[in-house]
Amino acid sequence: MPKSTLKNLAIIMDGNGRWAKQRGLNRTKGHEAGAETIRDITTYCANHEEIETVTFYAFSTENWKRPKLEVDFLMRLLDRYLKNELKTYQKENIQFKAIGNIHEFSKTLQTRIRKTEEETKDNTALTQVLALNYGGRAEITSAVNSLIEKGKIILSEEDISSALQTPYSDVDLLVRTSGEQRISNYLLWQLSYAEFHFTDTLWPDFSAEELDRIINEFKQRNRRFGGL
Ligand code: FPP
Repeated sequence: MPKSTLKNLAIIMDGNGRWAKQRGLNRTKGHEAGAETIRDITTYCANHEEIETVTFYAFSTENWKRPKLEVDFLMRLLDRYLKNELKTYQKENIQFKAIGNIHEFSKTLQTRIRKTEEETKDNTALTQVLALNYGGRAEITSAVNSLIEKGKIILSEEDISSALQTPYSDVDLLVRTSGEQRISNYLLWQLSYAEFHFTDTLWPDFSAEELDRIINEFKQRNRRFGGL
């Protein structure tokens, strides 16, 4: 009998650059291929009966340190992705939500993000969350500050959970591609009791078939949440 249920899945997409390099291509080609993988995995999740949210780490607060050309490319790619994706969101009944410091993006990109959220807000099969200009510590800090501003003095875990940007407070399974085994300031609060799976596959090569195998393995795990 499967033991674990999977409602909230989180993914660290890594390895676009190495995928491109292996093929003698520019890193930007790796990001383009990576955007295709996001579409495939999101569609798989929308058709999976248990999964309610999938959260992708698309741009971290540290990613601004990359060369300006690459950052500019990622911004344009994100805008193009959201523009093209609207039909998939509507067809597959997917709600889109962004988390992170969106206000530091260009006005055009902010408008695209807000418009996509607005146009998909009634969709119910899945929520696709993109973490954009996101950092876990920053998210917790701003949740705490927003509670202080509201006059709270003593905070409970529930207070903090409900002030986070994510529409859930616990991730069930985290998958990271490309062989790196770290969490890179991702969803620090929400990963407290998550199961982790690291795969050597580079993100552009990651597929729904591999995710399906990972989920089947996850479902056999016995999650004890600190109990016996
Ligand atoms: C890591 O690869 C990837 C990222 C910078 C984040 C993910 C970005 C995408 C999948 C691009 C498209 C995103 C959207 C939302 C359209 P890396 O460049 O760190 O790879 P490397 O470690 O091999 O250099």
